[in-house]
Amino acid sequence: MATRLNLADLRKVYKKQSLMEDSVAVNPLDQFKKWWGEVMKSGIDEPNAMSLSTCSAENRPSSRIVLLKEVNESGFVFFTNYDSRKGREMEQNNFVSILFFWKELERQVRVEGEVKKLPADKSDEYFATRPRESQLGAWSSPQSEVIDNRNILEQNETKYDNLFQNKIIERPPHWGGYLVVPNKIEFWQGRPGRLHDRLCYFLREKEWILQRLAP
Ligand SMILES: Cc1cc2nc3c(=O)[nH]c(=O)nc-3n(C[C@H](O)[C@H](O)[C@H](O)COP(=O)(O)O)c2cc1C
Repeated sequence: MATRLNLADLRKVYKKQSLMEDSVAVNPLDQFKKWWGEVMKSGIDEPNAMSLSTCSAENRPSSRIVLLKEVNESGFVFFTNYDSRKGREMEQNNFVSILFFWKELERQVRVEGEVKKLPADKSDEYFATRPRESQLGAWSSPQSEVIDNRNILEQNETKYDNLFQNKIIERPPHWGGYLVVPNKIEFWQGRPGRLHDRLCYFLREKEWILQRLAP
């Protein structure tokens, strides 16, 4: 028997804030930092969790959550396994999108751009700051591969734990960072009556152009 989920009755009125052209920064990365400051003050849980969408060479998109680890003047940084499904897809097609949804603030940020691998020394630097357990995890998990059972992971962990006993754990060659260099960033603020604010920046000849999109 089919279960009715009553999803059609789930409705929310967005009324916390507005987003006007005269209030936003000229550079969207500065605007992101401005919103990030507000996100940090709001106490949202895991606000740096973002959906990363990649697209295979066969035009098949896929999405998953990764953690934003840095925002700089060039873009957005995250870390993963280079041999994972996403890693392989980004090798074939470096156009990606990332998405944040901060429901407590009734906000969404959409980023589109091109991804490139971080230089090895930057990945090394970040890897060195990770807890030992996570460092071992990066060695132990052949991310995205089919494995026979969970024991394999635990056996791998023990193997690498022994191998790196009393040693600094170096970064595995298959693990590191990516930088998403944006060419479009949209800031969405929920408003009443579904007349939301959408301010979208896109890059035209190295200059950021701001446009308002209909909700
Ligand atoms: C809250 C959260 C944070 C995550 N952070 C990361 C991350 O920073 N890097 C990563 O590789 N996977 C992260 N994952 C796991 C990914 O969502 C995904 O399962 C994994 O990267 C394999 O994806 P793929 O097979 O599409 O490559 C996270 C998952 C969740 C739910």
